[in-house]
Amino acid sequence: MQDFIRDMPKAELHVHLEGTLEPEHIFALAERNQIEMEYKTPEEVIAAYNFHDLPSFLAIYYAAMGVLQTEEDFFELTYHYFLRAHEDNIVYVEPFFDPQGHTSRGVSFATVINGIHRAQVAAREKLGIESNLIMCFLRDASAESAMQHLHMSLAYRDWIIGVGLDSDEKDNPPSKFREVFALARQEGYKLTMHCDVNQVDIVDHIWQCLDDIEVDRIDHGINSLEDEKLCQEIASRGLGLTVCPVSNRFVVQSLTSQEIKAMLARRMKVSIHSDDPGYFRAYLTDNYLALIEEAEFSRAEIMQLNRHAFETSWAEDEQKQRYLEQLQQYSS
Ligand code: HPA
Ligand code: ZN
Repeated sequence: MQDFIRDMPKAELHVHLEGTLEPEHIFALAERNQIEMEYKTPEEVIAAYNFHDLPSFLAIYYAAMGVLQTEEDFFELTYHYFLRAHEDNIVYVEPFFDPQGHTSRGVSFATVINGIHRAQVAAREKLGIESNLIMCFLRDASAESAMQHLHMSLAYRDWIIGVGLDSDEKDNPPSKFREVFALARQEGYKLTMHCDVNQVDIVDHIWQCLDDIEVDRIDHGINSLEDEKLCQEIASRGLGLTVCPVSNRFVVQSLTSQEIKAMLARRMKVSIHSDDPGYFRAYLTDNYLALIEEAEFSRAEIMQLNRHAFETSWAEDEQKQRYLEQLQQYSS
């Protein structure tokens, strides 16, 4: 089963590029960019990764991304991630990036996206990994700031497939960004939003994603199981839910294996992803392996989870079909 999972061609739809920063890389960049670090060794950094909720994780995540300064830094970050993804037999990625985490520090939108895009082109040419970039807005920043960044992104419209919403969910409901996402939709972007596990008013937030925003996908969304009607609506719209087991464990002390099974039983298109693998110390294969350690999953169920990732991806139809055939061949 472990070999089967490792060698299976996979799709990653929920990975924050800034969340792939490895401790050693944080140190190398800090030295190169002459940034003073609070910690003295990569081991000290890892020891500080004792997250217990979303805000405690985000505090370290935003502090560490300060080492990213130049276009080359963003290229390296992204290309390192693709090299690691290649080891996991990931063939398709829709990575997130957080431009406001950089422009707020004086790093230009162009610097960030030029570096990321160059790495995407290199990964396609050298590793055969296809990818489509998703720009996330920080929900604890203002709707005006999100709107400004949406306008900035339009100069790079062809390099971005969709927009998402991440960061601290408390008191930052989807409806705060109704106009931003309506305009993004008009511009042809696909829409997704984080509905993080066990947040205040989370079931209401998921309903807002469906009714007010009309999202094309949901990131996490585990708490939809608290409302049977909501589950039915998600299933009937065929919406993907990108669940990240190891990331969830930091918040709910469980890999949410039973919730994942409950979603499969309701024909919800749940799939498995890694979120912030540099911080949670688990890439995509590791997430699947952790999951099958917590609960029994058949090969057919693992295949189904991975198939959902390709099906609910925003790859072109023909490309999607090719991946699904590749997967079919792999299992037969
Ligand atoms: N949730 C919200 N915001 C984030 C996350 C997450 O899991 N990772 C990076 N930003
Ligand atoms: Zn996430």
